[in-house]
Amino acid sequence: MIKIISLSNFIDILLLLLLFIIQNVNAEYETCNDGNGNEGLCLNTNTCNIKKGNSISGQCPNDSEDIKCCINILSKSTTPFEKGMDVAVYQKDIDWDKIKKNSDIEFVIMRATLAYSETTECLVDEKFEEYYQGATTINLKKGAYFYTHATSKERMKMDVEYFLQTVNNKLFQYPYFIDVETEGQKNMGKKEFTDMVIYGAELIKESTNHTVGIYTSLDYYKNYLEESRLLDKGIKKWFAQYGNYDFDPNKHDLSDLGEYWQYTNLSRIDGIPSEVDLNVHYINKCNCENGNENDKSCNCNDSNNSNAFTVIPTINSFILLIILINIINYLN
Ligand SMILES: *[C@@H]1O[C@H](CO)[C@@H](O)[C@H](O)[C@H]1NC(C)=O
Ligand SMILES: *[C@@H]1O[C@H](CO)[C@@H](O)[C@H](O)[C@H]1NC(C)=O
Ligand SMILES: *[C@@H]1O[C@H](CO)[C@@H](O)[C@H](O)[C@H]1NC(C)=O
Repeated sequence: MIKIISLSNFIDILLLLLLFIIQNVNAEYETCNDGNGNEGLCLNTNTCNIKKGNSISGQCPNDSEDIKCCINILSKSTTPFEKGMDVAVYQKDIDWDKIKKNSDIEFVIMRATLAYSETTECLVDEKFEEYYQGATTINLKKGAYFYTHATSKERMKMDVEYFLQTVNNKLFQYPYFIDVETEGQKNMGKKEFTDMVIYGAELIKESTNHTVGIYTSLDYYKNYLEESRLLDKGIKKWFAQYGNYDFDPNKHDLSDLGEYWQYTNLSRIDGIPSEVDLNVHYINKCNCENGNENDKSCNCNDSNNSNAFTVIPTINSFILLIILINIINYLN
């Protein structure tokens, strides 16, 4: 005998009432359009910022109460990200106040050290100190990298030591990245190349306990490195992938490829006299429940990390609860 789900059940009615209320809370978000065919939701500017969308004025009834059309949150990545840039001496004289006022840059990864070949001396990036001070003044989150030609553990050690000596006594919230992208490294063979990077990462880890990352192209990760071994070691992945130089991280979610994506090297930002590399950091790549909560680069204590729309799972769990209660009812 099959018992039909009974609406006369008091708890059912209560839950359905709650479900109705929740749906109506969600319904306060009207849909809108930015005038160019991009769909959005009417949200207040702050909520829109948290969801990493763009607020467009004049498209929602309540603009006056700071309710604006928030676009790029529906079609885009559901993975929240922060926007940042990476800089080296090629960016020349940066006007940090302009960056703060006129851009949405939240973090900067700066080149600390480099060498021009495997046999030449290590150097500090001429602008490193200046950029560090500038970024600190406007409270950007900072990471650092060193560019290495190393094709041996000996040279890797030398480059790591010089880098650590340079960043020592400075504060970085984001990882220390090992930048490997030379022809010589490409020709090392997957295993040797990977061994060398892991060796460098472990030297850094032993000496500083700082989170370590690697920077290279997707091609190198796929064809010249044993990527899974790097990830097993907890080395953060920063990858370059430019598309047609205008890849828009609002429209392309590449979060399954790594935590840090350098999506263009040809961007212009007010305050920088040259082209500049832009990046996103996918915040939720960090699994805050599984031991990453001490990793400052993961922002695990940042409440803005909560995912964009949680209403739908809530409704689902209500429906599940109703079904469950009916099953229990039936079994009784
Ligand atoms: C718009 O504002 C009015 C009053 O200022 C308010 O009653 C109404 O609920 C608001 N509508 C939306 C969609 O927020
Ligand atoms: C940008 O990247 C492309 C492809 O790697 C390269 O050919 C070009 O020289 C780069 N331009 C700048 C300004 O870095
Ligand atoms: C190293 O960092 C981890 C978190 O990233 C922390 O749990 C651990 O205590 C640190 N170890 C030392 C020796 O500082």
